[in-house]
Amino acid sequence: MAKPAGPPLRALSVASEVFPLIKTGGLADVTGALPGALAREGVAMRTLIPGYPAVMAALMRGVEVLAWPDWFGGPAQLLAGKAAGLDLFVLDIPHLYNRPGGPYSGPDGKDWPDNAQRFAALARAAALIGQGAVASFVPDIVHAHDWQAGLTPAYFEPGRRPGTVFTVHNLAFQGWFEAGLLEPLGLPASAYTVDGVEYYGGIGMLKAGLALSDRITTVSPTYAAEIQTDAGGAGLAGLLRTRAGSLSGILNGLDGAYWNPASDPHLTAAFGPGRLTRRARNKTALQVRMGLAERSDLMLLGVVSRLTEQKGMDILLQALPGLIETGAQFVMLGTGDPTLSSAFATIAQAHPGQVSVLLGFDEAVSHQIYAGVDALAVPSRFEPCGLTQLCAMRYGAVPVVSRVGGLNDTVIDANDAALAAGVATGIQFTPVDPAGLATALRRLRRLWSQPKAWAAVQRNGMKADFSWEGPSRAYAALYREIAAA
Ligand code: ADP
Ligand code: GLC
Repeated sequence: MAKPAGPPLRALSVASEVFPLIKTGGLADVTGALPGALAREGVAMRTLIPGYPAVMAALMRGVEVLAWPDWFGGPAQLLAGKAAGLDLFVLDIPHLYNRPGGPYSGPDGKDWPDNAQRFAALARAAALIGQGAVASFVPDIVHAHDWQAGLTPAYFEPGRRPGTVFTVHNLAFQGWFEAGLLEPLGLPASAYTVDGVEYYGGIGMLKAGLALSDRITTVSPTYAAEIQTDAGGAGLAGLLRTRAGSLSGILNGLDGAYWNPASDPHLTAAFGPGRLTRRARNKTALQVRMGLAERSDLMLLGVVSRLTEQKGMDILLQALPGLIETGAQFVMLGTGDPTLSSAFATIAQAHPGQVSVLLGFDEAVSHQIYAGVDALAVPSRFEPCGLTQLCAMRYGAVPVVSRVGGLNDTVIDANDAALAAGVATGIQFTPVDPAGLATALRRLRRLWSQPKAWAAVQRNGMKADFSWEGPSRAYAALYREIAAA
């Protein structure tokens, strides 16, 4: 391995989720993998995370480094410690974080009513650490992720300022709150300007991160371009265009040690690009697990997804009858929108043995799907990066993806030229509508009927480099550039 370029650097990562402690989606995968990858680039990263019950339970030997008797309406403390191999700062505020349910919403699926306080507190703690409040770890860079950490630079006080990076994992979630919260959140009145936290007459947490950070990144080059267009900018395109010189796309990686079909404990049979025939045992195991007919001759299409409009799940719903008619099997693992959930469940009930839907969040089953299906559908309307197509490729499932965002940047369409050149890794489609997806599924079936070509596409995907090496080098270079400025 090459020697890291430049002197050691300290970086604070600020996020609302981190794998394996707390995860609702790809953000956790990324914040969980980044510190390890950056360590190899000479960057010592610590992660600041809210003290949800799961985080508190996993924290080992947490040491109090800051405490407040009354902060955001109650006692609070900042703990430093380790969990799951990660160096953490845990913000322990029982009245904000110690409750059952998810990081953003309660067991009823409704957003927590005090999310403004919950994530303002996170950002404020990040700003304090960034300005040197914890003498044992004074970061050169504060790297904030998504709206939950967006207010970080708004809380800086006059004095030493670390370099700041803000990463957009999803521009659709913006963290907008009423202007009346300015004072309760401890934001200075001077922050409430068009160049600061003000956004459509309220407080925009994502907007603040975009406006006030030294550099903005997002998780793929194509998404970086899309969000600067009015169609893809979710109301923020103008601001992003003015910041174009400070905005770049750095593709996410995949933790290759964790996502490894040769050693994955969740699988029935280990396999790799050179032992592809063993993969069939995982397909059978998945069929059994999900109540599908044990048929190796039928193409099995899978989905692992949040069930939302972003993910194009309504588009899939409309294209599914056409696929079912061909006799192919379909398996889904997902959670989200209740209307979509029940629509998929209804299709499964109507086609026992051919369609199976598991509504819920299950890490093990997700691995079994990547390793067992023949193909994975990702028909997203927009996709900042997308990780499921990467997991699919790594596990020998052929991804069928819409040509947007990170899907555009990671999958090589199996057109005639790519097949002839031996570089195809999946199927891309556009327009992103039911007819577009139906055409893509027809192309998929044609490819499936050519076993040699199919296996070549599988192998290309399995061998493709989606490691964190390139991305972490890009982040480290960005940090050094900011620190030097
Ligand atoms: P997003 O973060 O937008 O939901 P990504 O593709 O970036 O989409 O990441 C999704 C991550 O969450 C992947 O690691 C995927 O395996 C996982 N995932 C999504 N839905 C489920 C589910 N229902 N059960 C288990 N894992 C899931
Ligand atoms: C968001 C995006 C997804 C991306 C993930 C990690 O959840 O929707 O595309 O892969 O963040 O960056």
